[in-house]
Amino acid sequence: MRVSVFGCGYLGAVHAVTMTELGHEVVGIDVDDRKLDALSRAVPPFYEPGFEHLLSRALSTGRLQFSADVTAAKGSRVHFVCVGTPQKRGEYGADLRYVEDAVESLVTVLAPGDLVAGKSTVPVGTAARLAALIEREVPGAMLAWNPEFLREGFAVRDTLHPDRLVYGLPAGPAREIARALLDEVYRSVVDRDTPVVVTDYATAEMVKAAANSFLATKISFINAMAELCEATGADVGQLADAIGHDDRIGRRFLDAGLGFGGGCLPKDIRAFMARAEELGAQDALAFLEEVDAINMRRRARAIDLGRELLDGDYAGKRVCVWGAAFKPNSDDIRDSPALDVAAAAQKLGAAVIVYDPEAMENAKRTYPQLAMASSALEAARNADVLLLLTEWSEFRETDPTMLASVVAAPRIVDGRNALDPATWRAAGWTYRALGRP
Ligand code: UDX
Repeated sequence: MRVSVFGCGYLGAVHAVTMTELGHEVVGIDVDDRKLDALSRAVPPFYEPGFEHLLSRALSTGRLQFSADVTAAKGSRVHFVCVGTPQKRGEYGADLRYVEDAVESLVTVLAPGDLVAGKSTVPVGTAARLAALIEREVPGAMLAWNPEFLREGFAVRDTLHPDRLVYGLPAGPAREIARALLDEVYRSVVDRDTPVVVTDYATAEMVKAAANSFLATKISFINAMAELCEATGADVGQLADAIGHDDRIGRRFLDAGLGFGGGCLPKDIRAFMARAEELGAQDALAFLEEVDAINMRRRARAIDLGRELLDGDYAGKRVCVWGAAFKPNSDDIRDSPALDVAAAAQKLGAAVIVYDPEAMENAKRTYPQLAMASSALEAARNADVLLLLTEWSEFRETDPTMLASVVAAPRIVDGRNALDPATWRAAGWTYRALGRP
């Protein structure tokens, strides 16, 4: 089938490549010529394990193209909308400008019988509004909402082997036609007995917001327990293991530490709260305000632990920060807890030096005030304290005895509970962590 993908950022580029992998003829449309040029040359514009290989394989089939020209989407049967919905400046709500621009361009190339499949994360109610616009401009064209749940670092796997597919379908006769088109697009995924949840627009939109809110709540729950562990001397890691053995709770997403960041969880819970308020249902999501607050308090706590290790003052001290990406196996620094803490320490008068295996370029661009090192060891040299803020395996595997001979003083804040405290203490380190004695 011929498909188009509007928006070739993280979500769209991965989607375009996996659609090609599934056997379709794909055109990726974007307004950013530099991104299109890189993708066309098989150069990924972001770091994602496995993506480069899949991109060049997809290009070599001759079935994948990228274009800035919207008319290249003409003749596609399904048109995916994969543009970003960032948080508005100074507000909780999502900025729908890019979704609206994409749909306005799309209606100029749609034919009756075509299906627009929205994948972007949008506030509930958006799909119904866009469907009315599409129906008015191109009678016979249809809209489905088909949210995406991929995680950075596992994007290829998550797209080819999703836990479930969600189809938010129009009412009336278009419903079966839209469903058949989506089944055809995802044929090999559906044939693998992947659960398919068929529903209406509002439920499909809410599934994404609810899933991310649940994940954020799970992380903040264990981080709230970490605060109590700090007050009592208990160990949040053992606590998480113990409660996680209960299948009803599960161990995943119970890693206490610096909390969540990235381009999704923080902005999605805020956009969900903003939409609930517009709907007069703000009480239902009041708890998410607390989820957000717990999450931000962890960053403040990490800064405090560093200060304690520096005998009460950051001023004039050399602080090594390991990690800039919002999580390992990513070069994404959007709302990165690591860089937030690094910038705060710098503001408090420290000389901060950052190292991250993949996110240095992005970090340099956004935080020019921070010094960057070209290796983990260079960052650690002569440091008065080391803050481990993103749990890359390179950091986990460092030999603490060797590292102790490089730093000015062997003091570490393990912001991700990534290290074994006993091993590091035995190697002479003063070790502090979030929620662990
Ligand atoms: C998330 C959702 O997982 C995904 O389904 C959705 O499509 C997009 O948002 P992503 O932002 O890639 O994906 O990252 P994720 O792996 O969910 O991690 C989010 C943040 O939570 C990271 O900063 C991570 O460090 C943190 N985290 C995760 C914890 O602090 N503890 C945990 O136990 C798990």
